[in-house]
Amino acid sequence: MQYSNFGQKFLRQTGIGQLMDDLGNPSPGSCLLGGGNPAHIPEVAEVWKEILSKQIESGGIERILGSYESPSGVLELREILAEILSKESGTKISFDEIAITNGSQNAFYFLLNFFSGNFGNQKDKKILFPILPEYIGYTDQTLEGDSFLSFLPEIKEIGDRSYKYFIAKDKFDSVKNWKQEAGCICISRPTNPTGNVITDEELEFLISKATEADIPLLVDNAYGLPFPGLVFGKSRLIHKPGMIQGFSLSKLGLPGVRTGIVLGDSHTIEMLQRANSVINLTSANPGQFIALEFFRSKKWKDLCEKVILPFYKRKSLFAQDVIRNRWSYSIDYRIHQSEGAFFLWIWVKNLTLPVGELYPIFKESGVIIVPGKTFFPGADPSWKHREECFRLSFVREDKEIEEGILRIGRVLEKFSK
Ligand SMILES: Cc1ncc(COP(=O)(O)O)c(C=O)c1O
Repeated sequence: MQYSNFGQKFLRQTGIGQLMDDLGNPSPGSCLLGGGNPAHIPEVAEVWKEILSKQIESGGIERILGSYESPSGVLELREILAEILSKESGTKISFDEIAITNGSQNAFYFLLNFFSGNFGNQKDKKILFPILPEYIGYTDQTLEGDSFLSFLPEIKEIGDRSYKYFIAKDKFDSVKNWKQEAGCICISRPTNPTGNVITDEELEFLISKATEADIPLLVDNAYGLPFPGLVFGKSRLIHKPGMIQGFSLSKLGLPGVRTGIVLGDSHTIEMLQRANSVINLTSANPGQFIALEFFRSKKWKDLCEKVILPFYKRKSLFAQDVIRNRWSYSIDYRIHQSEGAFFLWIWVKNLTLPVGELYPIFKESGVIIVPGKTFFPGADPSWKHREECFRLSFVREDKEIEEGILRIGRVLEKFSK
């Protein structure tokens, strides 16, 4: 069979495809520290059950299962989201600045292709990642190749075994043609895979750079504010003209309903609506109606702040403690400061093999992690840091996290110089 360029993209196994395959087919007994699934938190599951029962009892289910809603999303949901996002950001936001998509992955597929590729007049534009590492799921989304312009981060070591990435602001001066090359700037906050939360000041800096270049700043809040709100330190939702922001129900505990939310200028929102109707006709209903009830009930804020956030904070500390107390001192590791999301990002400096080559050995030893190199789109492949890092998730039961981290530690010890 012959395939077009578009089809051929999927003949190759992509980073995210490989990851989803491994997550979907784990060997029995493996410790699953690889995935992006949220935890099953009983208090949270209870809320979904209550909402679903109410929908069935009231007969609301008929509309949910039996109708195509508008391709920009259910109007009542867009209105209530506008109210919440206005309040949380202190900015006036209206419903026509909000679109609903089939998950935020789907939203970013549209957005990354709106703002990269061929702009006519031989102008090809790229997506600028102002700091790496960045979410693996953006990597294969663009329809055209060579789509990324990426800036390496500044690395600051903190104390004995911690470090943090910062935006290397001088890159915006030293890479002279970035304004001509970039069609948008894109960042996840908190960042998947590192758990980094770029500071408010760094975010303001990116807004000013995007404004200077007259391009949008895409901010992906899949783990961020205001829901699920997995930001461990003090921060706030910032929204300014020129920003297009993604949100999701997935990390709240609803990845299966595939509901994403985009906040942006009304023109881009209208384009998203048109693209959604061409590709999907409309977005799926169940997540939208669960969300409508959830946000109307005003329970969402307490659930995020008093249940979900403390749950993941404790898990993060637990995983870090296991590493610090149980790994051999011969492993020269650093943990990226855990500031949000539900991953730890580990950098090991004295390995005799690249992490990519250790991956099958981890798998064989009964633990799944995600090797770091796939999180560096557009980076110079010779930068050895890419092969010294990996991501592990801390959503699973404590026992599984502990066992998985011990298995990782045994492999790392064997392959440390
Ligand atoms: C940073 C980030 N953005 C977007 C997504 C996509 O999430 P969804 O399509 O489930 O909303 C993910 C999923 O893991 C993610 O980690």
